[in-house]
Amino acid sequence: MSTSTSAIVLESVIKEYPLGQIRVPALQSVSLQIEPGEFTVIAGPSGSGKTTLLNLVGCIDVATSGTVRVAGKVTSALKERDLTELRLHTIGFIFQSFNLVPVLNIFDNVEFPLLLQKTLTKPERKERVLHYVERVGLSKHLLHRPNELSGGQRQRVAIARALVTRPQIVLADEPTANLDSATGQSIIDLMKSINENEKTTFLFSTHDHNIIQQARRVIELRDGKIVSG
Ligand SMILES: Nc1ncnc2c1ncn2[C@@H]1O[C@H](COP(=O)(O)OP(=O)(O)OP(=O)(O)O)[C@@H](O)[C@H]1O
Ligand SMILES: [Mg+2]
Repeated sequence: MSTSTSAIVLESVIKEYPLGQIRVPALQSVSLQIEPGEFTVIAGPSGSGKTTLLNLVGCIDVATSGTVRVAGKVTSALKERDLTELRLHTIGFIFQSFNLVPVLNIFDNVEFPLLLQKTLTKPERKERVLHYVERVGLSKHLLHRPNELSGGQRQRVAIARALVTRPQIVLADEPTANLDSATGQSIIDLMKSINENEKTTFLFSTHDHNIIQQARRVIELRDGKIVSG
């Protein structure tokens, strides 16, 4: 398939982190192609490069060399303004540590990306926020703040916030790492149903063998290289 219609394409991507006098190789010539609507897990031991890879795709960091293409756009060729646009309109990012705003209630946390987007009116934003908060099963908690919720509930807020802009691509770095296995499974079920219903592309990392077994595609990293997938 042509790479210009792919959701995500990496071509010979190298990422090195400077550490004093040395350079730590985090990704060593990684190439991969993910089509729209795929549900893909990135697996691999600690330090294998999972977070590094997601950060490059999420335009949070830049590759040392090689090409990263997201929704048909070569990210290194984009100006800051276009990168912001891509992060805000095309990608939803779910972090391991949730990254919710502690002083805002659940409604306001989920609405936040829509305020940045500046495309919807207030009533449209409200409808959209309520839809996704309902989708993640938290309608009764709209006025709660993050510290008044459990870990699983916070992760569901983070998912609603990542989805509220209807991104084509959702990236998640170990979205179930801080959750017990039943709650983790419910988060995966939610991601799967959104993938099936809305054709959203999902790319997420995990250590959890149970979850790895359920993924349609598994990309396995070891020492910064793809060993399968
Ligand atoms: N900011 C940094 N500076 C220097 N080295 C880094 C930095 N971030 C990551 N690394 C190194 O890059 C490699 C890949 O790290 P990365 O965080 O991508 O791994 P990971 O697969 O996400 O691991 P984990 O499962 O523990 O989250 C590791 O060797 C790590 O030590
Ligand atoms: Mg990591």
